[in-house]
Amino acid sequence: MDKLVSSWYKDQSLPESYIFPPHERPGKLLVPRCNTVPVIDLGDTRTNLVHQILKASQEFGLFQVVNHGVPPNIMSETMSVFHKFFELPAEDKASLTVHTNDPKRCKLVTSTLDYDREKIHLWRDVLRHPCHPDCIEFWPQKPLRYREVVAACSIEAKKLGLQILELLCEGVGIEHGYFEHELTEDLLLGANHYPPCPDPSLTLGIPKHFDPDILTILLQEHISGLQVLKDGEWIGVKPIPNAFVVNIGYILQVISNNKLKGAEHRVVTNSSDHRISVVFCMNPAGDSNIEPAKSVVTATNPPLCRVFQFKEFMDNFYSMDGDADLALQPFKL
Ligand code: OGA
Ligand code: NI
Repeated sequence: MDKLVSSWYKDQSLPESYIFPPHERPGKLLVPRCNTVPVIDLGDTRTNLVHQILKASQEFGLFQVVNHGVPPNIMSETMSVFHKFFELPAEDKASLTVHTNDPKRCKLVTSTLDYDREKIHLWRDVLRHPCHPDCIEFWPQKPLRYREVVAACSIEAKKLGLQILELLCEGVGIEHGYFEHELTEDLLLGANHYPPCPDPSLTLGIPKHFDPDILTILLQEHISGLQVLKDGEWIGVKPIPNAFVVNIGYILQVISNNKLKGAEHRVVTNSSDHRISVVFCMNPAGDSNIEPAKSVVTATNPPLCRVFQFKEFMDNFYSMDGDADLALQPFKL
C-alpha cells in the first residue's frame, strides 16, 4: 500500500498524480455555501416530516437533520475518537493497512482500494469497516475507547436511518417496514481524513459520485468540504453543529423507481484545516434482491430495471470505477 497522504502532505507540493483534468476540478472554490440544502427538524409533526423529507429527497437527494435524538456526546466523542485515530503513529495503524479480501476486516487506505490501478489519486485517507457486532473484534483497539464509542454511534446512526426510511416509505407509498431487514442488513463505516492540501483548486477529496447504498448518514464538523450537485451547480453543505447529513443512495433511487433522487456529491479540500467525516452507509446484504418496489410501479410508471442481486451491482460498480449509472446498465429494461 502506498503511504497515507497524512504522512507526507507537509513535505511537498501537490504531486502530478493528484491533479484532476480541468473539467473535474473544483472550479469556484467558494460555491454558494447556502441555506438551500434543506434542514429538517425531526421534532416536527409526522405529517410535516413526511412532506418535507419527501420534497428534500426529490429535489436534492440530500438534506440535514437536526433535533434527531442522537445524544450530542455520542457525536462529539465519535469525532474525537477519529481525530485521535488519524493522529496515531504509523506503527499503530500498520496492521490495518495490510491488504486483505476478508470483508469483515478493517481497511485503512489512502485514496481508494484501487490505488494501484487508478489514474488519479484522491486527497484523503479512509478507514472502512463493517459495523456488525460480529466484526467488532477486528476494529481498531487504539484509541482506547474506539470500540465502545463507535459501536454506540453506529447503533444510533442505524436507528436514525431506519426512522428516515420509514418516513420516506410513507411519502413515496412503499409499505411500512420494507427496508427493515435484509435491505439495511450491512451497516458500513467509512471515516475520511482530508489533510490540508497544497493546492485545493487542482484536486479533490472525492470526485462526483453517488453512494452505492440505500441511505448514507454522515457526521461532519465545522470544516466545509462536502458539495452536492443541484441543477448543474455545486452547492456547499454548510456544517451545522450536531446535525447529520443524509444522502439518498443510488439503490434507494432504484427501489423508488426514480421517485427519489440519489444525490451526486463530491468533496473539495482546503489548504488550512484537517477535515474528518464519518459516514455510515446502510447497505443491503450481498445476496438480497433489489428491484423497484411493486407498490411504486404502475402502468404509467413501469419498472426501470429488472431484479438483481446487490452484489451483482457492486461487482459492476467496482469494475466501472464507481459509476453507478453504468453499473445499473445491464439490469435496465
Ligand atoms: C463518501 C462521501 C463525504 C464527506 O465517503 O462517500 O461522500 O463529506 N463523503 O466526506
Ligand atoms: Ni459519498
